Amino acid sequence: MGASLIDGKAIAGQVRAEVKDAVAEFTAQHGRRPVLATMLVGEDPASEVYIANKHRACEETGMESRHRSLPGDATEAEVLEQVRELGEDGEVDGILVQLPVPAQIDPDQVIASIPPSKDVDGLTPVNAGLLASGSPGMVPCTPAGVVDLLVRTGVEVRGSRAVVVGRSNLVGRPVANLLLDLDATVTICHSKTTDLAGVCREADILVAAVGIPGLIEADWVKPGATVIDVGINRTDEGLVGDVDFESVSEVAGAITPVPGGVGPMTIAHLMANTLKAARDREASRGS
Ligand code: GUN
Repeated sequence: MGASLIDGKAIAGQVRAEVKDAVAEFTAQHGRRPVLATMLVGEDPASEVYIANKHRACEETGMESRHRSLPGDATEAEVLEQVRELGEDGEVDGILVQLPVPAQIDPDQVIASIPPSKDVDGLTPVNAGLLASGSPGMVPCTPAGVVDLLVRTGVEVRGSRAVVVGRSNLVGRPVANLLLDLDATVTICHSKTTDLAGVCREADILVAAVGIPGLIEADWVKPGATVIDVGINRTDEGLVGDVDFESVSEVAGAITPVPGGVGPMTIAHLMANTLKAARDREASRGS
């Protein structure tokens, strides 16, 4: 393997330690802990694991967490009512509705009903719009984690060619906006991109967030490029990313593993966002 490994687990540990210190300070100052409320509709086993990890991270960083479960056949009106209650709950700083939601529920309606100030996922139209216009409010956790990995490993983003494969609201679009804000020249690719491999080969920084196991192969990667793999695909061979790690790590300059790359950074930044939401709420109370 020629590439250096970007150890997301270790870097996320640093972020969490920083958040933990800041939470202790917040708690001493305001006499309360930041509170994250999660919601899960249905019983998707993967989502249950993600939620449990988020609650554990709250505990480790000194925050309080609450949870609401709704059955898989809950109506959209029932979900919206729960979100409304959490939005009005003066004790709750952050709200996270775990995605995906069952088919009878429109995720866009649910997300849009979260007050932007409590939107620790950064997915509401207001926060997406702020990010797209270059003055970020609450930034989505995985994109924030991707950019933080680059910054903390000393990757030169300014002036680089960055290629993002995937245009989801959760990752592709926001990560592209963040890279643009750091003065990269950014290309977003998707399923209709012609010569996808050729575009990827131009990248100094290649971010794969498309959900296709092993899509990015060695000959798609410029020698020495930094490759960030956001994919989490469950296959018969276990958890794999969107990047063919074995071959690409012979060509890239630096690469994230799956698991242990971007994943831990997502939760670390959820903690950071929850702290930010709590601070912002305290600041607005004082004003
Ligand atoms: N499901 C997979 N990733 C995420 C995420 O970042 N936020 C939420 N709410 N659900 C998800």
